[in-house]
Amino acid sequence: MAVSRADVKKSYRTQIVLLGPPGAGKGTQAKSLSEELELAHISTGDILRQAIRQNTDLGKEAKSFVESGALVPDSLVTRMVTRRLLADDVKNGFILDGFPRNVAQAGELDEFLGKEGRSDYSVIYLDTSEKIIVQRLGGRRICRNCQAVYHLTNRPPKKDMSCDNCQGQLYQRPDDKEDTIKNRLEVYGKETQPVEEYYSRNKRLFAVNADKDSGIVLGEMLDFLRQR
Ligand code: AP5
Repeated sequence: MAVSRADVKKSYRTQIVLLGPPGAGKGTQAKSLSEELELAHISTGDILRQAIRQNTDLGKEAKSFVESGALVPDSLVTRMVTRRLLADDVKNGFILDGFPRNVAQAGELDEFLGKEGRSDYSVIYLDTSEKIIVQRLGGRRICRNCQAVYHLTNRPPKKDMSCDNCQGQLYQRPDDKEDTIKNRLEVYGKETQPVEEYYSRNKRLFAVNADKDSGIVLGEMLDFLRQR
């Protein structure tokens, strides 16, 4: 019997946390998964960068943390995420990209989803080597206009330094400079690696080798979600 796209979608776990170091491909994979499964993509990094561009109160508070690669205080980020999780477009599920970032945030997420009766979620860990991380972050370029993500060698724009979609100018994120990458990796090791252990203990963690081509990584994640 033929299985329809809707049947396949129903069989997915629709609440997903994507975990992994800077440059692992969380944003890239979250975008593909959200298109494939029609789920809301919630990227804390994107929300914070937008607030900084718009110079909102949140942006003013977050700017120095984001640009130096430090974590923005939990109280600000957790409030921002829990509000977003109550929005209408999240009712069918979500992909969280960039949250939780430490064990306190993971606990807050569990408490919030528990109270909402939505405790059932999957955690996918994008396992990436340091050499690949440095190569990916160093070569990443973003469209100033539509925020599309490119890479100088892995996913180059068709025309030099301009976006294929909207011809916007491409730029390098301030936190993708060499010294800040080093700091982000240190922060990851200290603050976020314990989150992997937290989910591993709770038997939620599914690891994918994210050094591979992005299409292969996506396929492995979809296989995992289908089998759950
Ligand atoms: P955030 O934006 O979340 O940064 P990050 O976690 O460091 O992740 P990145 O966006 O750098 O990488 P990614 O894994 O999404 O990789 P991408 O897909 O772009 O956070 C930024 C800052 O905000 C933080 O430092 C902090 O200050 C603050 N913040 C955010 N969340 C917070 C929280 N919860 N609490 C406190 N503070 C918070 O890919 C990278 C490049 O590689 C791209 O060019 C892409 O084209 C390429 N690429 C991707 N996958 C592949 C592949 N498989 N093969 C080849 N190339 C690939």
